[in-house]
Amino acid sequence: MRKLLIKGKRELYGSISISGSKNATLPILAASILASDVKLTNVPFVKDIFTMLELLEFIGIKAKINNKKSILELRNNKKDINTLAPYNLVKTMRAGVLVLGPLLTQYKKAKVSLPGGCAIGTRPVDLHLFALKKLGAKIKIKNGYIIAEAKKGLKGTKIKFPSISVGATENAILAAFGAKGKTILTNCAVEPEILDLVEFLKKLGCEIKISGRQIIILREKKNKKKITHKIIFDRIEAGTYLIAGALIGKKILLNNIDPKVIKYEIDILRNMGIKIKKRKNSIIIFKAKNIKKTNITTKPYPGFPTDLQAQLMVLMTQANGLSKIKENIFENRFMHVPELKRMGAKIVIKNKTAYISGPTKLIGAEVMATDLRASVSLVLAGLIADNRTILNRIYHLDRGYEFLEDKLRRCKAEIRRV
Ligand code: UD1
Repeated sequence: MRKLLIKGKRELYGSISISGSKNATLPILAASILASDVKLTNVPFVKDIFTMLELLEFIGIKAKINNKKSILELRNNKKDINTLAPYNLVKTMRAGVLVLGPLLTQYKKAKVSLPGGCAIGTRPVDLHLFALKKLGAKIKIKNGYIIAEAKKGLKGTKIKFPSISVGATENAILAAFGAKGKTILTNCAVEPEILDLVEFLKKLGCEIKISGRQIIILREKKNKKKITHKIIFDRIEAGTYLIAGALIGKKILLNNIDPKVIKYEIDILRNMGIKIKKRKNSIIIFKAKNIKKTNITTKPYPGFPTDLQAQLMVLMTQANGLSKIKENIFENRFMHVPELKRMGAKIVIKNKTAYISGPTKLIGAEVMATDLRASVSLVLAGLIADNRTILNRIYHLDRGYEFLEDKLRRCKAEIRRV
């Protein structure tokens, strides 16, 4: 099994080009079921993207990959389409369920495996199904599969989500794309990745309006034959390297980003005393001498992202005083805590809140990751720890971080895969 070896305490200096967003690419890949000819640029070729491509290939969509140029071309001849998403292709990646909406709206039926549980929480799909049923789908669950049908096609309607879900909003938008008439979704997630999906669908000929948490989807006007789309930058990857810079960066330049999208995260770091210079498409970050404590609660966008909570916690171990993180999105997302504690962090969890005392000296250890963001928080901890850190189960990292070791090594980190 592969591991990462990290020799800590090496000051980081250099520039990092941020990749395209995995979480924006995944729903756009699902949307290719609705398109004919798609060219995507700024695609991050991480494991989850390959898993989704395997699923699309099974469905009948051909992909041409140019990973040197981060370009992906997809061709859908809309013949020989398989409306099944099997268990073996959905079980490792929850976003596989996003093919449900497009298959159903385009082909009037779909059979998609339930994605099952996940280390960070139960993560049900009830909100996805709730929206599809409102659009007129008949749905039953049988042998671990969602079996959905809309013999006469889906019909636009008003849907108010009882709680905010990124995936359910995406599935509903994708399904509404081919529904008759107008769909009005309220209490939606409005993450930048969802706005990127909307931009993609607009290029495809759909009229979509967003105001606050309301998204109105009008039936597609004209399905354009060939479209090109540049994937938005990965704000979580950017946030991760911002935190690396705050922890141990002599000077780090992050390229290929839009600082406006991560304004909240930048403000939080600045309030913690981190020096950050914003430019139009880049940011420069310097290690802080004196890090101030802070309290955050994870919330849907534009709040603080749950996907950056584990990384910020590492910064909090170096802040003066008691910092707090309340995890409001997932019920079981503190699994990095026992591992950080093995490295010397002082963290107590009560209910949904982690209390982090700092500053504490971290010491390298052999640690193990349980999910994507937890893994990268252990990499950050390894970068500032004394001695060597060995990170096991790095396949989690490969699901979502493109060229992680290369990017860090270019900034003089000592990190290698064995
Ligand atoms: C997406 C992101 C993930 C991020 C999360 C929250 C992708 C591929 N993944 O995941 O990285 O951490 O948003 O920002 O974009 N829920 C239900 N019923 C449902 C759906 C969700 O109860 O039908 C609950 C979930 O268990 C969770 C909360 O709603 O507690 C938010 O989940 P959701 O926004 O749907 O996350 P994902 O789309 O799975």
